[in-house]
Amino acid sequence: MNVVVTKSYEASCKAAADMIAKAIQANPAAKLGLATGSTPLPIYKELIRMHTQEGLDFSQVRTVNLDEYCGIDASHPQSYRYFMNENLFNHVNIDKKNTYVPSGMGNLEQNAAELEAKVFEGGTPAVQLLGIGSNGHVGFNEAGSRLTAQSHVEPLVETTINDNARFFEKREDVPTQAVSMGMKGILAAQSIVLVATGASKVEAIRGLVQDDCVYPQNPATFLKLHPNATIIIDEELAKQAGYKA
Ligand code: F6R
Repeated sequence: MNVVVTKSYEASCKAAADMIAKAIQANPAAKLGLATGSTPLPIYKELIRMHTQEGLDFSQVRTVNLDEYCGIDASHPQSYRYFMNENLFNHVNIDKKNTYVPSGMGNLEQNAAELEAKVFEGGTPAVQLLGIGSNGHVGFNEAGSRLTAQSHVEPLVETTINDNARFFEKREDVPTQAVSMGMKGILAAQSIVLVATGASKVEAIRGLVQDDCVYPQNPATFLKLHPNATIIIDEELAKQAGYKA
């Protein structure tokens, strides 16, 4: 696992966007594994800028998203399909037919099986972009005594529901389940880039940088098993998490 420390969150996002752009330049039909949440927003803004100002071409790019809430459909502003359309897909020349976000509606077991197939179809992502939950979750693989390998329906834990309540009108509106890529699909990506910033991520990042161990209580620590995973953090977070290069 490679840890990159930048001057600022903005610089972290620029570095992550550069890695994604490089993958597209190396293979115009690259497959990208994408994340939602607040962390990647500046990354997507930068990719849109690269598209409009520098001609970064998404016409053949394929994408698969990590997860989707259960029980809210694509027209719901907090659904991850809506998020991806609003924050990236509508602003670049990607063919939406080449983008996949699980639906989170209908038969959820079928959703999970479809997501699992999409992760591996035509080869695994060249780059998997990740954020990290305050409890160390990646995708919606929640912290606990065990992790699930394949894509599955995951009950969201209290901390995650609380963390995500900021996006909804009322806490009761936050979905309590998500369809998520499992640890196997995440770790199958050819490269992984995780970006984190802010005080709420200190403990999760400490688990990543403090030793060479993996803990199901901090799912992100499994990235230590990946041959090509990069963690990008700003110097403030690095300092608070006790990271020493
Ligand atoms: C989102 C996802 C989640 C988020 C995590 C951090 O697709 O899979 O693991 O990356 O909850 O969210 P933010 O970036 O909002 O702090």
